[in-house]
Amino acid sequence: RTEQKVDSVLALMRVNEKIGQLVQYSGKWDATGPSSSNGDQHKLDKLKNGEVGSMLNIASVATIRETQKIVMEHSRLKIPLIFGYDVIHGYKTIFPIPLGESASWDLDIIKQTAAIAAKETAASGIHWTFAPMIDVSRDARWGRIMEGAGEDTYLNTVIGVARIQGFQGNDLSSTSTIAACAKHFAGYGFAEAGRDYNTVNIGEYELHNTILPPFKAAAEAGVATFMNSFNDIDGIPSTGNKVLQRDILKRDWGWNGFVVSDWGSIGEMIAHGYAKDKKQASEIALNAGSDMDMESYAYEAHLETLLKENKITMAQLDDAVKRVLRLKFQLGLFDDPYKYCNEEREKNDVYTKEHLAIARDGAKKSIVLLKNETKLLPISKSIKSIAVIGPLANDKDAPLGNWRAKGTYNSAVSLLEGVKNAVGKTTKVYYEKGAELTIPTVKPGENQFLHPLKFNDTDTSGIPAAVEAAKKAEVVLLAIGEDAFQTGEGRSQTNIGFFGVQQQLLEAVYKVNKNVVIVLMNGRPMDISWAAKNIPSILECWFLGSESGNAIADVLFGDYNPSGKLPVSFPHNVGQEPLYYNQKNTGRPYSPSHVTYSGYIDAPKTALYPFGFGLSYTTFEYKNLKLDKKEIAKNGEIKLSVEVSNTGTRDGEEVIQLYIRDLFGSLTRPIKELKDFKKIMIKAGETKTVNFIINAEKLQFYTINKKWEVEPGDFNVWVGGDSNAKLKATFSVTE
Ligand code: IFM
Repeated sequence: RTEQKVDSVLALMRVNEKIGQLVQYSGKWDATGPSSSNGDQHKLDKLKNGEVGSMLNIASVATIRETQKIVMEHSRLKIPLIFGYDVIHGYKTIFPIPLGESASWDLDIIKQTAAIAAKETAASGIHWTFAPMIDVSRDARWGRIMEGAGEDTYLNTVIGVARIQGFQGNDLSSTSTIAACAKHFAGYGFAEAGRDYNTVNIGEYELHNTILPPFKAAAEAGVATFMNSFNDIDGIPSTGNKVLQRDILKRDWGWNGFVVSDWGSIGEMIAHGYAKDKKQASEIALNAGSDMDMESYAYEAHLETLLKENKITMAQLDDAVKRVLRLKFQLGLFDDPYKYCNEEREKNDVYTKEHLAIARDGAKKSIVLLKNETKLLPISKSIKSIAVIGPLANDKDAPLGNWRAKGTYNSAVSLLEGVKNAVGKTTKVYYEKGAELTIPTVKPGENQFLHPLKFNDTDTSGIPAAVEAAKKAEVVLLAIGEDAFQTGEGRSQTNIGFFGVQQQLLEAVYKVNKNVVIVLMNGRPMDISWAAKNIPSILECWFLGSESGNAIADVLFGDYNPSGKLPVSFPHNVGQEPLYYNQKNTGRPYSPSHVTYSGYIDAPKTALYPFGFGLSYTTFEYKNLKLDKKEIAKNGEIKLSVEVSNTGTRDGEEVIQLYIRDLFGSLTRPIKELKDFKKIMIKAGETKTVNFIINAEKLQFYTINKKWEVEPGDFNVWVGGDSNAKLKATFSVTE
């Protein structure tokens, strides 16, 4: 029925109205990209003429109603606009940044936070988020690593699907759900040298095996839209990549949503040197299957002429328009263009107690305990004195991270507040900032998105007071890391250590008090090698959102036993980047006798803290790995079981990870790949048997035949608590 409705609207449309459906304008000039020279009057005229399909960056019931009204009252066909916004990790209630939340490996909480983000977004009149980002990201220098699920294909796949299910629910027409957008299609996370927007050079097999699987799963999960990416791959900008968008996404995967270009990316094909002008860029993009033009002002100017010149076809135009109309019908906008516009809901359904409780739950599950050598943690709540020190210690804004949608400036619970909320009156809490991390370049609360950061590299005047506080306390909590806007779009770095005078602060404090817990707040894997060698306890706290301080306190004081595992490898130093666990073996993996093997002479080639790693306040032991068969046919199935015991004294959750290696193939294969995991609670002293199935889905790859196939041969399988899992078994697959 939807298809009939789509066709009946399409039949009424004139060419300019069809093209209009493929035009998306921003409601603000400087929100997420460089501003266009086209002014507000131009937009207004286009809206009145029914020559706009979508708006982004308008976010409130009043403004959305007002903008929708322009179309409803003036345009000939009254086709409602769809409103999009970057709701990346919460709308008003802010959840952990996606990379941080991915460390939870908890698909239920990830789904729940996305569902709440959707509810709050929809309550503000918006229909569509540009999330999730499912770019496999292996380079800590790339600022956008904070927006996805890290370095692994499988983890990005399952987390991406959970986020889509959370945003979209089972019914797009519900006013509590919104359309999702799988982005950025494709290869954006592989930008050379971690430099944003940079060239990507990957082969076809890498593309299929590593980058595309999360997108295929997103398409299968019914994600409403895709966004293409700024980068080129092997000389072809993704926006103009027909193989990706038309052949793979729309033809092979049979997906019927629409592709929105990234901001200005149609026009940017000129800078890429791939189109001589916007007209040619429009021709390339539409032919390649980019359906909607976000802020390039290219389609509106050129598609009609291109049609007359037979450079694009009416069938292509109709197909793109139908995709946009289909979503508008699915959202119910044709029945009521204002159906998401409800002032009561906008007031009452956001930032509620219930939402904040889930934000706290998601935040505590995202924390990763990296080191706890002297068992400083958990801290007793009746401790006599604690010093909370550091530029991020009482920061109520940084925990909101970048891409914080409508998160209110300075609204997060700071670490200091969280600690004070947790301890009793008898605990003396000292606080010293110790140092500023940045020198403000914009006024507090102003959008930092496009502003360069300036770091405080010289002012150490706060350090002596911090040292005095550290001397007086039994334990020091040192909150250091990154500025909230150090990661995100355009925030690439060549240094991933502590900026400003943080290292000086750290060393000065440690000199007078050895009981230091680093509370790390950051959006990318950092070089923390000095700290890892010297500091007894390190807690990875990312940017945890609205309830940050309370969630950290839950872990610090043992109300919650940490269960997070790294979704990205932490390197020994930046020179190892891009660093990821599932490398290829190479022809020279290691030689004990000479230096001519694939490694470094000044650093290990493996991670400081590997993918999948995270400690608990208890310990887990893995034993009795059993396979019910040692040999299967290509379509066969092996039942694997393993016993996991909690050998400590506290109950705890463990993420049991399954890795497989295909020992040889028609293409070189990674040394291991995550293929499954289960997160379970195991009580102190208890042993649980955990079962996995190994089947074609876990063994296949995109082979030399350009097909997903299982190749016969020998395989290794490991099960354990991180990607260095040692418990191993072998099996083989026959023809
Ligand atoms: O959604 C984003 C995208 O990820 C980067 N460029 C701008 C878009 C819209 O804000």
